[in-house]
Amino acid sequence: MAVDSTSSTWSQRFEQGLHPAIERFNASIGFDIALLQDDLDGSVAHARMLGQCGVISEVEAARLIEGLELVRAEAAAGRFNPGLEAEDVHFAVERRLIELLGALGKKLHTGRSRNDQVGTDLRLWLRRQIDAIDGDLQRFQRALLAQAERHADTLIPGYTHLQRAQPLCLAHHLLAYIEMAERDRSRLADVRRRVNICPLGAAALAGTPVPIDRRATAAELGFEAIYANSLDAVSDRDFAVEFMAAGALVLAHLSRLAEEVILWASEEFGFVALSDRCATGSSLMPQKKNPDVPELVRGKSGRVFGHLMGLLTMIKGLPLAYNKDFQEDKEALFDGVRTVRDCLEAMAILFEEGLEFRPQRLEAAVAADFSNATDVADYLVARGVPFREAYQLVGGLVKTCLEQGVLLRDLPLERWRQLHPAFEADIFAAIAPRQVVAARRSEGGTGFERVRAQLLAARQRLEPALQNPA
Ligand code: ARG
Repeated sequence: MAVDSTSSTWSQRFEQGLHPAIERFNASIGFDIALLQDDLDGSVAHARMLGQCGVISEVEAARLIEGLELVRAEAAAGRFNPGLEAEDVHFAVERRLIELLGALGKKLHTGRSRNDQVGTDLRLWLRRQIDAIDGDLQRFQRALLAQAERHADTLIPGYTHLQRAQPLCLAHHLLAYIEMAERDRSRLADVRRRVNICPLGAAALAGTPVPIDRRATAAELGFEAIYANSLDAVSDRDFAVEFMAAGALVLAHLSRLAEEVILWASEEFGFVALSDRCATGSSLMPQKKNPDVPELVRGKSGRVFGHLMGLLTMIKGLPLAYNKDFQEDKEALFDGVRTVRDCLEAMAILFEEGLEFRPQRLEAAVAADFSNATDVADYLVARGVPFREAYQLVGGLVKTCLEQGVLLRDLPLERWRQLHPAFEADIFAAIAPRQVVAARRSEGGTGFERVRAQLLAARQRLEPALQNPA
Protein backbone atom coordinates (compact mmCIF):
# COMPACT_ATOMS: atom_id res chain seq x y z
CA MET A 1 0.00 0.00 0.00
CA ALA A 2 1.32 3.40 -0.93
CA VAL A 3 1.98 5.56 2.10
CA ASP A 4 0.49 8.92 1.22
CA SER A 5 0.85 12.13 3.13
CA THR A 6 -2.65 11.99 4.60
CA SER A 7 -2.31 8.75 6.48
CA SER A 8 0.76 10.12 8.25
CA THR A 9 -1.32 12.88 9.86
CA TRP A 10 -3.11 10.45 12.09
CA SER A 11 -1.98 7.96 14.63
CA GLN A 12 -0.83 4.54 13.57
CA ARG A 13 -4.39 3.42 13.89
CA PHE A 14 -4.95 4.61 10.32
CA GLU A 15 -3.67 2.49 7.47
CA GLN A 16 -5.19 4.22 4.44
CA GLY A 17 -5.26 7.77 3.25
CA LEU A 18 -8.45 9.72 2.64
CA HIS A 19 -10.40 9.42 -0.55
CA PRO A 20 -9.31 12.48 -2.56
CA ALA A 21 -12.86 13.86 -2.76
CA ILE A 22 -13.27 13.40 0.98
CA GLU A 23 -9.90 15.02 1.58
CA ARG A 24 -11.20 18.05 -0.27
CA PHE A 25 -14.54 17.88 1.52
CA ASN A 26 -12.91 17.66 4.93
CA ALA A 27 -10.24 20.31 4.48
CA SER A 28 -10.63 23.83 5.81
CA ILE A 29 -7.17 25.05 4.83
CA GLY A 30 -8.65 26.83 1.82
CA PHE A 31 -10.25 29.36 4.14
CA ASP A 32 -8.89 28.94 7.66
CA ILE A 33 -5.44 30.04 6.47
CA ALA A 34 -6.94 33.44 7.38
CA LEU A 35 -6.33 32.42 11.00
CA LEU A 36 -2.60 31.92 10.46
CA GLN A 37 -1.38 34.90 12.49
CA ASP A 38 -3.70 34.02 15.35
CA ASP A 39 -2.71 30.38 15.22
CA LEU A 40 0.95 31.38 15.46
CA ASP A 41 0.23 33.78 18.33
CA GLY A 42 -1.64 31.07 20.20
CA SER A 43 1.12 28.53 19.61
CA VAL A 44 3.85 30.94 20.72
CA ALA A 45 1.98 31.56 23.97
CA HIS A 46 1.39 27.84 24.44
CA ALA A 47 5.06 26.97 23.84
CA ARG A 48 6.25 29.67 26.25
CA MET A 49 3.86 28.43 28.91
CA LEU A 50 5.02 24.81 28.46
CA GLY A 51 8.58 26.03 29.09
CA GLN A 52 7.60 28.08 32.12
CA CYS A 53 5.72 25.16 33.63
CA GLY A 54 8.65 22.80 33.10
CA VAL A 55 6.68 20.57 30.72
CA ILE A 56 9.47 21.17 28.21
CA SER A 57 12.76 22.93 28.88
CA GLU A 58 13.06 26.69 28.50
CA VAL A 59 15.55 26.10 25.70
CA GLU A 60 13.07 23.88 23.88
CA ALA A 61 10.37 26.49 24.32
CA ALA A 62 12.64 29.18 22.91
CA ARG A 63 13.44 27.01 19.88
CA LEU A 64 9.75 26.25 19.27
CA ILE A 65 9.01 29.96 19.35
CA GLU A 66 11.85 30.64 16.92
CA GLY A 67 10.47 27.97 14.61
CA LEU A 68 6.98 29.49 14.78
CA GLU A 69 8.38 32.93 13.98
CA LEU A 70 10.17 31.41 11.03
CA VAL A 71 6.85 30.13 9.72
CA ARG A 72 5.47 33.63 10.18
CA ALA A 73 8.36 35.05 8.18
CA GLU A 74 7.89 32.46 5.45
CA ALA A 75 4.23 33.35 5.23
CA ALA A 76 5.05 37.07 5.04
CA ALA A 77 7.40 36.30 2.15
CA GLY A 78 4.68 34.29 0.41
CA ARG A 79 6.57 31.04 0.94
CA PHE A 80 4.07 29.25 3.16
CA ASN A 81 1.36 27.79 0.95
CA PRO A 82 0.09 24.57 2.47
CA GLY A 83 -1.99 22.31 0.23
CA LEU A 84 -5.08 20.27 0.90
CA GLU A 85 -3.11 17.48 2.51
CA ALA A 86 -2.47 19.78 5.47
CA GLU A 87 -6.24 19.71 6.17
CA ASP A 88 -6.30 22.87 8.23
CA VAL A 89 -4.14 25.76 9.34
CA HIS A 90 -3.34 24.11 12.68
CA PHE A 91 -1.91 20.99 11.08
CA ALA A 92 -0.17 23.03 8.41
CA VAL A 93 1.77 25.02 11.00
CA GLU A 94 2.60 21.96 13.09
CA ARG A 95 3.88 20.07 10.05
CA ARG A 96 6.08 22.90 8.95
CA LEU A 97 7.43 23.19 12.47
CA ILE A 98 8.33 19.52 12.47
CA GLU A 99 10.03 19.93 9.10
CA LEU A 100 12.01 22.83 10.51
CA LEU A 101 12.83 21.49 13.99
CA GLY A 102 12.58 17.74 13.68
CA ALA A 103 11.59 15.83 16.77
CA LEU A 104 11.26 18.95 18.92
CA GLY A 105 8.45 20.23 16.70
CA LYS A 106 6.43 17.26 17.81
CA LYS A 107 6.36 18.58 21.38
CA LEU A 108 4.31 21.71 20.59
CA HIS A 109 0.95 19.97 20.77
CA THR A 110 1.54 18.74 24.34
CA GLY A 111 -1.45 19.44 26.56
CA ARG A 112 -3.47 20.92 23.72
CA SER A 113 -5.98 19.79 21.12
CA ARG A 114 -7.10 21.38 17.89
CA ASN A 115 -10.45 21.80 19.60
CA ASP A 116 -9.24 24.36 22.13
CA GLN A 117 -6.75 25.66 19.57
CA VAL A 118 -9.31 26.51 16.91
CA GLY A 119 -11.53 28.18 19.51
CA THR A 120 -8.60 30.30 20.64
CA ASP A 121 -7.63 31.28 17.11
CA LEU A 122 -11.16 32.22 16.18
CA ARG A 123 -11.62 34.39 19.26
CA LEU A 124 -8.32 36.18 18.67
CA TRP A 125 -9.31 36.81 15.08
CA LEU A 126 -12.82 37.99 15.88
CA ARG A 127 -11.63 40.25 18.69
CA ARG A 128 -9.39 42.08 16.23
CA GLN A 129 -12.21 42.32 13.68
CA ILE A 130 -14.59 43.77 16.25
CA ASP A 131 -12.05 46.48 17.01
CA ALA A 132 -11.71 47.21 13.30
CA ILE A 133 -15.49 47.36 12.89
CA ASP A 134 -15.69 49.80 15.77
CA GLY A 135 -13.37 52.05 13.76
CA ASP A 136 -15.53 51.55 10.66
CA LEU A 137 -18.65 52.50 12.62
CA GLN A 138 -16.98 55.68 13.83
CA ARG A 139 -15.94 56.64 10.32
CA PHE A 140 -19.52 56.10 9.18
CA GLN A 141 -20.78 58.23 12.08
CA ARG A 142 -18.31 60.98 11.19
CA ALA A 143 -19.49 60.97 7.59
CA LEU A 144 -23.12 61.32 8.71
CA LEU A 145 -22.21 63.95 11.27
CA ALA A 146 -20.37 66.12 8.74
CA GLN A 147 -23.50 66.12 6.54
CA ALA A 148 -25.70 66.77 9.56
CA GLU A 149 -23.59 69.74 10.62
CA ARG A 150 -23.80 71.14 7.10
CA HIS A 151 -27.59 70.79 7.25
CA ALA A 152 -28.43 72.03 10.72
CA ASP A 153 -30.83 74.53 9.08
CA THR A 154 -32.09 72.46 6.17
CA LEU A 155 -35.60 71.04 6.31
CA ILE A 156 -36.78 67.68 5.04
CA PRO A 157 -40.27 66.18 5.06
CA GLY A 158 -40.72 63.68 7.89
CA TYR A 159 -42.76 60.59 7.11
CA THR A 160 -44.79 57.95 8.84
CA HIS A 161 -46.19 55.14 6.68
CA LEU A 162 -44.18 56.89 3.95
CA GLN A 163 -46.86 59.59 4.04
CA ARG A 164 -45.85 63.17 4.71
CA ALA A 165 -46.17 63.67 8.46
CA GLN A 166 -44.30 66.67 9.88
CA PRO A 167 -41.31 68.61 8.63
CA LEU A 168 -37.95 67.86 10.21
CA CYS A 169 -34.56 69.38 10.48
CA LEU A 170 -32.41 67.29 8.09
CA ALA A 171 -29.63 67.03 10.66
CA HIS A 172 -32.14 65.46 13.04
CA HIS A 173 -32.93 62.78 10.49
CA LEU A 174 -29.24 61.96 9.97
CA LEU A 175 -28.58 62.01 13.70
CA ALA A 176 -31.06 59.17 14.12
CA TYR A 177 -28.68 56.93 12.16
CA ILE A 178 -25.74 58.12 14.25
CA GLU A 179 -27.67 56.91 17.30
CA MET A 180 -28.26 53.51 15.70
CA ALA A 181 -24.56 53.19 14.94
CA GLU A 182 -23.81 54.13 18.54
CA ARG A 183 -25.97 51.25 19.75
CA ASP A 184 -24.17 49.00 17.26
CA ARG A 185 -20.88 50.04 18.81
CA SER A 186 -22.10 49.35 22.30
CA ARG A 187 -23.56 45.99 21.28
CA LEU A 188 -20.27 44.94 19.69
CA ALA A 189 -18.34 46.07 22.76
CA ASP A 190 -20.60 43.84 24.82
CA VAL A 191 -20.10 40.90 22.45
CA ARG A 192 -16.36 41.50 22.65
CA ARG A 193 -16.40 40.80 26.39
CA ARG A 194 -17.64 37.29 25.70
CA VAL A 195 -15.32 36.79 22.73
CA ASN A 196 -12.44 37.67 25.02
CA ILE A 197 -12.48 34.48 27.12
CA CYS A 198 -9.81 31.88 26.56
CA PRO A 199 -10.63 28.21 25.90
CA LEU A 200 -6.97 27.17 25.55
CA GLY A 201 -6.04 24.34 27.89
CA ALA A 202 -9.46 22.72 27.74
CA ALA A 203 -7.63 20.31 25.42
CA ALA A 204 -9.92 17.91 23.54
CA LEU A 205 -12.82 18.30 25.99
CA ALA A 206 -11.84 17.20 29.49
CA GLY A 207 -8.75 19.18 30.35
CA THR A 208 -5.30 17.61 30.52
CA PRO A 209 -3.07 15.80 33.02
CA VAL A 210 -0.17 17.92 31.74
CA PRO A 211 0.63 20.56 34.39
CA ILE A 212 -0.22 23.59 32.25
CA ASP A 213 -0.99 27.15 33.34
CA ARG A 214 -4.11 28.30 31.49
CA ARG A 215 -3.97 31.73 33.03
CA ALA A 216 -0.49 32.34 31.68
CA THR A 217 -1.48 31.70 28.06
CA ALA A 218 -4.70 33.64 28.49
CA ALA A 219 -2.80 36.63 29.91
CA GLU A 220 -0.17 36.56 27.17
CA LEU A 221 -2.89 36.53 24.51
CA GLY A 222 -4.72 39.42 26.14
CA PHE A 223 -7.80 37.46 27.18
CA GLU A 224 -9.74 38.82 30.10
CA ALA A 225 -10.69 35.46 31.58
CA ILE A 226 -10.58 31.72 30.98
CA TYR A 227 -13.50 29.37 30.49
CA ALA A 228 -14.50 27.79 33.79
CA ASN A 229 -15.63 24.51 32.20
CA SER A 230 -13.53 22.63 29.65
CA LEU A 231 -16.57 21.15 27.89
CA ASP A 232 -18.17 24.53 27.51
CA ALA A 233 -14.83 25.96 26.38
CA VAL A 234 -14.60 23.75 23.29
CA SER A 235 -18.35 23.69 22.55
CA ASP A 236 -19.22 27.34 22.82
CA ARG A 237 -19.96 29.25 19.65
CA ASP A 238 -22.37 31.67 21.29
CA PHE A 239 -19.86 34.42 20.67
CA ALA A 240 -20.07 33.76 16.93
CA VAL A 241 -23.87 33.88 16.99
CA GLU A 242 -23.84 37.03 19.09
CA PHE A 243 -21.40 38.69 16.76
CA MET A 244 -23.54 37.81 13.75
CA ALA A 245 -26.66 39.12 15.49
CA ALA A 246 -24.88 42.41 16.17
CA GLY A 247 -23.61 42.42 12.59
CA ALA A 248 -27.12 41.72 11.29
CA LEU A 249 -28.38 44.81 13.10
CA VAL A 250 -25.56 46.90 11.64
CA LEU A 251 -26.68 45.75 8.19
CA ALA A 252 -30.35 46.30 9.02
CA HIS A 253 -29.53 49.90 9.94
CA LEU A 254 -27.39 50.44 6.86
CA SER A 255 -30.08 48.90 4.70
CA ARG A 256 -32.73 51.25 6.04
CA LEU A 257 -30.54 54.23 5.31
CA ALA A 258 -29.70 52.76 1.90
CA GLU A 259 -33.40 52.48 1.13
CA GLU A 260 -33.91 56.13 2.04
CA VAL A 261 -31.02 57.24 -0.18
CA ILE A 262 -32.45 55.21 -3.06
CA LEU A 263 -35.81 56.96 -2.61
CA TRP A 264 -34.20 60.36 -2.14
CA ALA A 265 -32.16 59.95 -5.33
CA SER A 266 -35.24 59.19 -7.41
CA GLU A 267 -36.83 61.76 -9.70
CA GLU A 268 -39.97 61.57 -7.55
CA PHE A 269 -38.21 62.71 -4.36
CA GLY A 270 -35.19 64.49 -5.80
CA PHE A 271 -33.76 65.18 -2.34
CA VAL A 272 -30.19 64.13 -3.15
CA ALA A 273 -27.91 64.23 -6.15
CA LEU A 274 -25.47 61.35 -6.48
CA SER A 275 -21.92 62.18 -7.44
CA ASP A 276 -20.22 60.39 -10.30
CA ARG A 277 -17.84 58.80 -7.79
CA CYS A 278 -20.53 56.61 -6.27
CA ALA A 279 -23.06 55.99 -9.00
CA THR A 280 -23.14 54.10 -12.25
CA GLY A 281 -24.85 54.58 -15.57
CA SER A 282 -27.07 52.27 -17.53
CA SER A 283 -25.61 50.28 -20.40
CA LEU A 284 -28.69 51.17 -22.42
CA MET A 285 -30.44 54.27 -21.11
CA PRO A 286 -28.13 57.27 -21.40
CA GLN A 287 -30.08 59.47 -18.99
CA LYS A 288 -29.69 57.14 -16.00
CA LYS A 289 -27.58 57.42 -12.90
CA ASN A 290 -28.12 54.47 -10.63
CA PRO A 291 -27.68 54.27 -6.86
CA ASP A 292 -25.71 51.01 -6.94
CA VAL A 293 -23.95 51.57 -3.62
CA PRO A 294 -27.05 51.72 -1.43
CA GLU A 295 -28.70 49.01 -3.50
CA LEU A 296 -25.78 46.66 -2.90
CA VAL A 297 -25.78 47.44 0.80
CA ARG A 298 -29.49 46.69 0.96
CA GLY A 299 -28.92 43.48 -0.99
CA LYS A 300 -25.93 42.34 1.05
CA SER A 301 -27.83 42.60 4.32
CA GLY A 302 -29.38 39.23 3.44
CA ARG A 303 -25.98 37.54 3.58
CA VAL A 304 -25.43 38.51 7.19
CA PHE A 305 -29.00 37.63 8.23
CA GLY A 306 -28.45 34.28 6.50
CA HIS A 307 -25.19 33.64 8.35
CA LEU A 308 -26.96 34.33 11.65
CA MET A 309 -29.59 31.72 10.84
CA GLY A 310 -26.90 29.36 9.59
CA LEU A 311 -24.89 29.57 12.80
CA LEU A 312 -27.93 29.08 15.01
CA THR A 313 -28.95 26.07 12.96
CA MET A 314 -25.42 24.70 13.07
CA ILE A 315 -25.22 24.60 16.85
CA LYS A 316 -28.75 23.72 17.82
CA GLY A 317 -28.49 19.94 17.60
CA LEU A 318 -24.90 19.43 18.70
CA PRO A 319 -24.22 17.18 21.64
CA LEU A 320 -21.26 18.15 23.79
CA ALA A 321 -18.44 18.63 23.11
CA TYR A 322 -16.58 19.43 19.84
CA ASN A 323 -18.24 18.38 16.60
CA LYS A 324 -16.84 18.90 13.14
CA ASP A 325 -19.94 20.95 12.32
CA PHE A 326 -18.06 23.79 14.02
CA GLN A 327 -15.75 24.01 11.04
CA GLU A 328 -18.69 25.67 9.30
CA ASP A 329 -18.50 28.67 11.62
CA LYS A 330 -15.49 30.06 9.81
CA GLU A 331 -16.77 30.89 6.37
CA ALA A 332 -19.85 32.44 7.94
CA LEU A 333 -17.74 34.62 10.21
CA PHE A 334 -15.24 35.52 7.51
CA ASP A 335 -17.94 36.50 5.05
CA GLY A 336 -20.04 38.19 7.75
CA VAL A 337 -17.14 40.34 8.90
CA ARG A 338 -16.15 41.21 5.35
CA THR A 339 -19.71 42.16 4.45
CA VAL A 340 -20.18 44.34 7.53
CA ARG A 341 -16.87 46.09 6.93
CA ASP A 342 -17.37 46.58 3.20
CA CYS A 343 -20.86 47.97 3.67
CA LEU A 344 -19.81 50.37 6.42
CA GLU A 345 -16.99 51.63 4.25
CA ALA A 346 -19.19 52.02 1.19
CA MET A 347 -21.88 53.93 3.10
CA ALA A 348 -19.24 56.13 4.75
CA ILE A 349 -17.82 57.03 1.34
CA LEU A 350 -21.32 57.64 0.02
CA PHE A 351 -21.92 60.25 2.71
CA GLU A 352 -18.39 61.66 2.54
CA GLU A 353 -18.37 62.34 -1.19
CA GLY A 354 -21.05 60.34 -2.95
CA LEU A 355 -24.12 62.47 -2.48
CA GLU A 356 -25.26 66.00 -1.99
CA PHE A 357 -28.54 67.08 -0.49
CA ARG A 358 -30.56 69.54 -2.58
CA PRO A 359 -31.78 72.20 -0.14
CA GLN A 360 -34.08 73.97 -2.61
CA ARG A 361 -35.87 70.76 -3.49
CA LEU A 362 -36.18 69.93 0.19
CA GLU A 363 -37.43 73.39 1.04
CA ALA A 364 -40.00 73.27 -1.77
CA ALA A 365 -41.16 69.85 -0.62
CA VAL A 366 -41.91 70.90 2.96
CA ALA A 367 -43.63 74.09 1.85
CA ALA A 368 -46.08 72.35 -0.44
CA ASP A 369 -47.95 69.89 1.75
CA PHE A 370 -50.15 69.58 4.82
CA SER A 371 -47.40 68.54 7.19
CA ASN A 372 -48.17 71.66 9.22
CA ALA A 373 -51.74 70.50 10.00
CA THR A 374 -50.80 69.30 13.48
CA ASP A 375 -49.53 72.78 14.22
CA VAL A 376 -52.90 74.29 13.40
CA ALA A 377 -54.45 71.97 15.95
CA ASP A 378 -51.66 72.81 18.44
CA TYR A 379 -52.38 76.51 17.82
CA LEU A 380 -55.99 76.03 18.92
CA VAL A 381 -54.94 73.87 21.86
CA ALA A 382 -52.67 76.68 23.06
CA ARG A 383 -55.79 78.88 23.02
CA GLY A 384 -57.84 76.55 25.15
CA VAL A 385 -59.54 74.32 22.56
CA PRO A 386 -59.53 70.64 23.58
CA PHE A 387 -57.12 68.70 21.32
CA ARG A 388 -59.66 66.22 19.94
CA GLU A 389 -62.02 69.03 18.96
CA ALA A 390 -59.18 70.97 17.29
CA TYR A 391 -58.09 67.81 15.51
CA GLN A 392 -61.56 67.31 14.04
CA LEU A 393 -61.83 70.93 12.91
CA VAL A 394 -58.47 70.86 11.16
CA GLY A 395 -59.26 67.53 9.52
CA GLY A 396 -62.31 69.11 7.91
CA LEU A 397 -60.28 72.12 6.87
CA VAL A 398 -57.64 69.94 5.16
CA LYS A 399 -60.42 68.12 3.34
CA THR A 400 -61.82 71.36 1.86
CA CYS A 401 -58.35 72.58 0.97
CA LEU A 402 -57.67 69.35 -0.91
CA GLU A 403 -60.98 69.70 -2.76
CA GLN A 404 -60.12 73.27 -3.75
CA GLY A 405 -56.48 72.49 -4.55
CA VAL A 406 -55.04 74.99 -2.07
CA LEU A 407 -52.66 74.79 0.87
CA LEU A 408 -53.34 75.90 4.45
CA ARG A 409 -51.08 78.91 4.01
CA ASP A 410 -53.25 80.08 1.06
CA LEU A 411 -56.39 80.48 3.16
CA PRO A 412 -57.39 84.09 3.96
CA LEU A 413 -57.73 85.07 7.61
CA GLU A 414 -61.56 85.27 7.31
CA ARG A 415 -61.67 81.61 6.39
CA TRP A 416 -59.61 80.75 9.50
CA ARG A 417 -61.87 82.85 11.69
CA GLN A 418 -64.96 81.16 10.27
CA LEU A 419 -63.48 77.89 11.42
CA HIS A 420 -62.72 79.17 14.92
CA PRO A 421 -62.65 82.68 16.42
CA ALA A 422 -59.39 81.92 18.24
CA PHE A 423 -57.43 82.31 15.00
CA GLU A 424 -55.44 85.54 14.65
CA ALA A 425 -53.09 86.82 11.96
CA ASP A 426 -50.19 85.06 13.67
CA ILE A 427 -51.52 81.70 12.41
CA PHE A 428 -49.54 82.23 9.20
CA ALA A 429 -46.23 82.46 11.04
CA ALA A 430 -47.17 79.48 13.21
CA ILE A 431 -47.63 77.18 10.24
CA ALA A 432 -44.56 78.20 8.25
CA PRO A 433 -42.41 75.03 7.98
CA ARG A 434 -39.38 76.58 9.68
CA GLN A 435 -41.53 77.60 12.64
CA VAL A 436 -43.18 74.21 12.70
CA VAL A 437 -39.75 72.63 13.12
CA ALA A 438 -38.46 75.23 15.56
CA ALA A 439 -41.51 74.77 17.80
CA ARG A 440 -40.65 71.15 18.58
CA ARG A 441 -38.48 72.00 21.53
CA SER A 442 -39.18 68.90 23.61
CA GLU A 443 -36.09 66.95 24.61
CA GLY A 444 -34.89 64.84 21.67
CA GLY A 445 -37.19 66.75 19.31
CA THR A 446 -36.41 68.26 15.94
CA GLY A 447 -36.38 71.91 17.11
CA PHE A 448 -33.21 73.60 15.87
CA GLU A 449 -31.80 74.26 19.35
CA ARG A 450 -32.34 70.66 20.37
CA VAL A 451 -30.68 69.46 17.18
CA ARG A 452 -27.70 71.73 17.78
CA ALA A 453 -27.29 70.17 21.20
CA GLN A 454 -27.45 66.70 19.65
CA LEU A 455 -24.86 67.68 17.05
CA LEU A 456 -22.54 68.94 19.74
CA ALA A 457 -22.96 65.80 21.82
CA ALA A 458 -22.27 63.60 18.80
CA ARG A 459 -19.20 65.65 17.91
CA GLN A 460 -17.85 65.34 21.44
CA ARG A 461 -18.53 61.63 21.52
CA LEU A 462 -16.61 61.12 18.27
CA GLU A 463 -13.80 63.45 19.25
CA PRO A 464 -13.34 63.15 23.00
CA ALA A 465 -10.51 65.71 22.83
CA LEU A 466 -13.18 68.36 22.30
CA GLN A 467 -14.61 67.63 25.72
CA ASN A 468 -11.71 69.30 27.53
CA PRO A 469 -10.39 71.96 25.18
CA ALA A 470 -6.90 72.80 26.40
N1 ARG B 1 -10.54 22.57 11.18
C1 ARG B 1 -11.19 22.28 12.41
C2 ARG B 1 -12.29 23.31 12.66
O1 ARG B 1 -12.33 24.26 11.96
C3 ARG B 1 -10.22 22.31 13.53
C4 ARG B 1 -10.61 21.49 14.71
C5 ARG B 1 -10.62 20.06 14.36
N2 ARG B 1 -10.80 19.25 15.49
C6 ARG B 1 -11.12 17.96 15.36
N3 ARG B 1 -11.27 17.27 16.44
N4 ARG B 1 -11.32 17.43 14.20
O2 ARG B 1 -13.12 23.19 13.51
